[in-house]
Amino acid sequence: MNSLPKGLLIIFEGIDGTGKSTQLQLLADHLDRAGYSTVTTREPTSGTYGQQIRQLYINRDGVSKEEELQLFIEDRKEHVAKLLTPSLQEGKIVLCDRYFLSTAAYQGAVGFDPIEIIKMNDFAPTPDIAFLFQLSPDLSIERITSGRGDTLNDFEQKESLEKVRTIFNSLKLPYIKNIDASLSIDSVHQQIVNKITPLLGHSHKLV
Ligand code: TYD
Repeated sequence: MNSLPKGLLIIFEGIDGTGKSTQLQLLADHLDRAGYSTVTTREPTSGTYGQQIRQLYINRDGVSKEEELQLFIEDRKEHVAKLLTPSLQEGKIVLCDRYFLSTAAYQGAVGFDPIEIIKMNDFAPTPDIAFLFQLSPDLSIERITSGRGDTLNDFEQKESLEKVRTIFNSLKLPYIKNIDASLSIDSVHQQIVNKITPLLGHSHKLV
């Protein structure tokens, strides 16, 4: 029996301010130019649950951390069903900004067991590769506040970023690849292209 065309699931992970969104777009442009069929997406999504999560950044009154964790899981279920699985079945290369490793690290930092969180996500397709952007919280905060002119949200306080980073680094999964995010945009892009190239197959090209 012929198997379904199999796409590639590429995840961008790391603490806030590491430049993963910029790099996601650069890789998508690179792959598009080379004739691959790509889909770019992010979590939290802009779906029903994702919108509720973004509301929490503004006002989290009365929402427990259990409810918040549940919202991230529901958002991912919707994302997997509506976009990730169909795109992968069509053989596309999916580039996703944050995924369940973020839930393990961020909700782990507020007290949940990261390994249990990963188990709760067993409905979600396993990444082919997850880039873990490495940058000190000091530098990441500097990039957030000076670079983007943003103020820090609830998730972005230094102490919690330290905790989040420690948990990210404790996750020993074969598909996690560290990326030195302190380098220039071009050299980070090159690190990523070098790691992706061996995974690319002709079936991911547009026909
Ligand atoms: P982020 O990618 O920084 O979105 P934006 O640029 O729109 O602010 O993600 C928002 C925050 O959500 C980030 O601080 C990490 C947090 N987050 C979790 O706590 N758990 C999760 O499962 C995900 C996907 C994100």
